[in-house]
Amino acid sequence: MPNLDRGDVRIAVDTIGQGAPLLLIHGFPLSRELWTPVMQPLLETAGPAGRRLIMPDLRGFGASTVTETASMADYADDLVSMLDGLGITGPAAVCGLSMGGYIAFELVRRHPARVGALIIADSRAGPDTPEAAKNRRDQAAKVLSTGTSAVSDGMVQKLFAEAADQELKDQWRERMRRSPEKGVAAALLAMAERPDSMPTLATLRVPALFIVGSEDRITPVEVAAEMAETAPGGRLVEIEGAGHMTPVERPAEFAASVSGFLRPLGW
Ligand code: MLT
Repeated sequence: MPNLDRGDVRIAVDTIGQGAPLLLIHGFPLSRELWTPVMQPLLETAGPAGRRLIMPDLRGFGASTVTETASMADYADDLVSMLDGLGITGPAAVCGLSMGGYIAFELVRRHPARVGALIIADSRAGPDTPEAAKNRRDQAAKVLSTGTSAVSDGMVQKLFAEAADQELKDQWRERMRRSPEKGVAAALLAMAERPDSMPTLATLRVPALFIVGSEDRITPVEVAAEMAETAPGGRLVEIEGAGHMTPVERPAEFAASVSGFLRPLGW
């Protein structure tokens, strides 16, 4: 696993496969492990151009450097430096899940030439309400004083469809608990401050796909449908029976949706 440095920040990244680059940006408070179940299905369904999966840990998560503060701009700039370090200087297909989607929108704003196609999974373009932003600030303070379980224990109930295996939920709660407190708190504050991405969507110049689990309780189907209607030519795929963790809950369907969208585009 190479590490790509940007100043004092070291971004851990896994790459697998060869061909058209597909950048996969994980959600909160997770790591690149999110993509493990879809790696093989994504490679097996690639088109003639092949596919190179690029799966980083965002700063503050997994094996990347933890910083006291972070912003959507920091996350996006880290990813561009990482792509540069990998020799990927042209556009990539970019897929972000939930917080990864917020960062994908920031990439579109700050580095439009690096985004050739956009896949937004289980996310939203609108900003936090003032109440939601305040909750995040309170949660950030709690995480720093009592630990990551202040977020992970409540969140795991909402991440998966109700019918999902308890074992699966327990496994992911443990993974979330291992996320560094400072990284989790910094991400909560970054999400609270994130801008409205609806104008970004309305003026999007690249093809966009919106994937959502039919049982997603964090970013429900209506939210994805509104994004798909707002983005010029936007497409919507609803994955039946999945919650917010579509790549984990329905890896084959997730990969088929991504490839069904990317292949006709030559990605
Ligand atoms: C995520 O899955 O990344 C989070 O649910 C995003 C959020 O809390 O807004």
